[in-house]
Amino acid sequence: MRSEKIAAKIWLMVEVAAERGKQLSSRVSEEGAGWSCQQIGTFAQLRPDRDGFSWLNPRTLWRSRNEILAGLFGDPSGEVRARWVEAQEARGADPEARVRPGLGPSFDFLLLGDTGEGDASQYAVVPGLLRLSEGTSFAVVASDVIYPAGSGNEYGDKFFRPYKDYRAPIYAIPGNHDWYDGLGGFMRVFCDAPALRPKPDSGWLRGLLWRKPEPVDERRLAEARELRGLPSQRATGPAAQPGPYWAVESESLLVVGVDTGIAGLIDARQAEWLRRVSRDPRPKVLVTGKPIYTRNDYKPSPLEGGGTIDDIVRDPAHRYVAAIGGDVHNYQRYPVRVGDRVIQYIVSGGGGAFMHATHTIRRVDVAGVREDDFRCYPLRGDSLSFYSQLYARRLRMKWVCLTPAEAACIMSEQIKNDPVRPVHGPVRITRRMRWAARLLGAWPWPLRLPVDRVFHRYLSEVSDWDTPPFFKQFLRLSVTPETLTVRCFAATGCLAQELEPPLEDEVSISLS
Ligand SMILES: [Fe+2]
Repeated sequence: MRSEKIAAKIWLMVEVAAERGKQLSSRVSEEGAGWSCQQIGTFAQLRPDRDGFSWLNPRTLWRSRNEILAGLFGDPSGEVRARWVEAQEARGADPEARVRPGLGPSFDFLLLGDTGEGDASQYAVVPGLLRLSEGTSFAVVASDVIYPAGSGNEYGDKFFRPYKDYRAPIYAIPGNHDWYDGLGGFMRVFCDAPALRPKPDSGWLRGLLWRKPEPVDERRLAEARELRGLPSQRATGPAAQPGPYWAVESESLLVVGVDTGIAGLIDARQAEWLRRVSRDPRPKVLVTGKPIYTRNDYKPSPLEGGGTIDDIVRDPAHRYVAAIGGDVHNYQRYPVRVGDRVIQYIVSGGGGAFMHATHTIRRVDVAGVREDDFRCYPLRGDSLSFYSQLYARRLRMKWVCLTPAEAACIMSEQIKNDPVRPVHGPVRITRRMRWAARLLGAWPWPLRLPVDRVFHRYLSEVSDWDTPPFFKQFLRLSVTPETLTVRCFAATGCLAQELEPPLEDEVSISLS
């Protein structure tokens, strides 16, 4: 009776926060987007004193070389993953990779993608996340737990410290950056796995240049682990994470996490496991390191031996209701009609690392999803204004600066829709503004300043990391036997949105 009362209280708390968050979102006001920050959030006090890594440092680029080597000589993650999984099974891990945390028919969990830069934008997510974490049974980090290269020695400031006050276990799937360490750090932390015995690479040149896992400083790691040392924070026994891919079981739903390695290919052993797990009669949510739909484009990860991951997701017998991917540092949702069902394809990679632009996403028309069905965060106008202000400030190109209202009008002209957020007062779009938008990629143009991955890697250094808005986001998912509700909450870095996180999107999915 007591637990029912607590559950009802938590349900009410989430409903009230969601209702309030809707009114405070960036879809309603510029304040909600964090454009008029009265006070910086408390996250600044959580941050470590030391600076993180620098993408511009040649050492960082050298540490991230496996991405280039995988592109040139083929991605060996499949082979290495099979060895990790074999070693885990030899240590007694469940070959079906099930995680059994003892969940009832109704539960909530959090999902955040691409977290680990250890900087302001990662820590800015934390206070709002904690505020909305009450009653959640676990959290999932979807892709890129540690930048730049997954080292087991960097989990202190980029994982244990930021989430030290989150009271439940955290599971994770690796992203490409975690693979730059051969998954050594990831497996040590999440699966308590000892280092793999070195084995010669099948390609000699790749083997010669390939970055091997960094030896883990065990004393330092043990100290860091203490930050999340409460029994409720540790996943042990049947609730422990068995390997890089897994399925969290509950009575009503399976949460299936896959590892897409560096290049997105699913190895034969994992593909076979995914087919087996997908035959379970319960409804499912897929969590993947590479989103299937992103930027108005379809990118299903191939399976070794033929087919794609989306073939498995779409098969009606498998009962997938949503597929959520990290890797792209913003939020996007594509409700795709598949037969008589709708599958929600979601990008949720705004959990920490620098924001990737949404204003370069053209008018949506993919797999039958139209612009009006599509949702994204940040709004395209905010994304354009953010990058215009950033370049104006840091590269002293004042003329590219666009206010949020100007950028919203330019984007609505481009996308051919009404501005999502009402624009107050007359806004005159000048030729100067159009040139600025063109230069920032608001429409196709050969000469363009970087606003996505290239920006993140080489130019985010010169941007101001401490100034909100950050346009970060995380998901809270609520499961009952009948319904899965996915809510996207924003983190701007301002105190107002820390106290009442804006609700940027919400969708309810029938599980019956
Ligand atoms: Fe990432």
